[in-house]
Amino acid sequence: MTTITLLRGDGIGPEISEAVVKIIKESGADITWEEQIAGLEAVEKEGTPLPDKVIDSIKKNKVALKAPITTPIGKGFRSVNVQLRKALDLYANIRPCKNIPTIKTRFDDVDLVVIRENTEDLYAGVEEKIDDNTAHSIKIITREASERIAKFAFEYAVKNGRKEVCAVTKANICKLSDGLFLECTRKIAQDYPNIKYREILVDNCCMQLVQNPSQFDVMVLPNLYGDIVSDLTAGLVGGLGVARSANIGKDCAIFEAVHGSAPDIKGQNKANPTALLLSAVEMLKYINMNNCAEKIEKALYKTFNEGIKTADIGGSASCTEFTDAIIKNMN
Ligand code: NAI
Repeated sequence: MTTITLLRGDGIGPEISEAVVKIIKESGADITWEEQIAGLEAVEKEGTPLPDKVIDSIKKNKVALKAPITTPIGKGFRSVNVQLRKALDLYANIRPCKNIPTIKTRFDDVDLVVIRENTEDLYAGVEEKIDDNTAHSIKIITREASERIAKFAFEYAVKNGRKEVCAVTKANICKLSDGLFLECTRKIAQDYPNIKYREILVDNCCMQLVQNPSQFDVMVLPNLYGDIVSDLTAGLVGGLGVARSANIGKDCAIFEAVHGSAPDIKGQNKANPTALLLSAVEMLKYINMNNCAEKIEKALYKTFNEGIKTADIGGSASCTEFTDAIIKNMN
């Protein structure tokens, strides 16, 4: 029996979590969920958006499945998502991006993985207002974090039978910061002679991605480029409703969909649970429950093949109808 922390989130979070928990149970995975609350609900009940017991629970269980949590815009509490990544030092954000059968996009041969450094760069939040007309935002790149993410990318490539790691930067302009990032990826690349290593500038990378995405395998990027490029790559295979992700640290991991809490469709039984389900599939692989992961993925694709889809990807099934069809296809 494996205990996993569950954050059902808000907006469409509770609907898609319900679907995913049901499907995982039917897959036979021997999991006990330890439920925690964060975000607005936690502010109302506990007086803080991220109670210590959430962090303690994840530290104890080492793995969490998390549905999206709303961040108030321009006021209120800081993003719970950013706080969690910081508190648990979840330094690697992994976004695998592969075509899903029957979800038609411009390309049918996309199979790449974006590995984004999750802790520094412009996201370190070092900003200052010089005067009314000038603001500075400092881009922080360190050798320690860059070597750590580069090593992670190469290890990921080895473990997953990948052939190449491509470092994406703007080192022609940010010569010192992105230059240091490249110095680190080059150094780590030497330890992996069986994995091909190449470099590309981020602007050219974006153009190449929309023209010929199949040339990319594993990509490793500093935080900001990783954030932007990974949304672009999600768009290559069907968009936010199907984009999975994992935040991995030395001791803990949080698996979550790329999308947010979609308040516009909250409570309407319209949400697509696929992105959270595929993130849960990655979680099952991470805890070595590969059989259950495969069973779920197969049933999901069979459901798509039967033409059963939610509205965001061109179908008419409700969240619960789609969930029931996946469960039926697992048995
Ligand atoms: P969003 O991803 O929630 O929604 C963007 C659009 O995509 C909306 O039209 C929504 O209906 C649709 N959509 C998203 N997920 C869907 C799904 N599973 N099924 C069907 N349609 C889906 O982005 P938005 O509106 O910018 O953010 C809403 C809130 O979510 C914000 O407070 C934001 O801070 C938060 N957020 C939380 C994240 C997390 O918890 N990891 C990640 C991104 C945003």
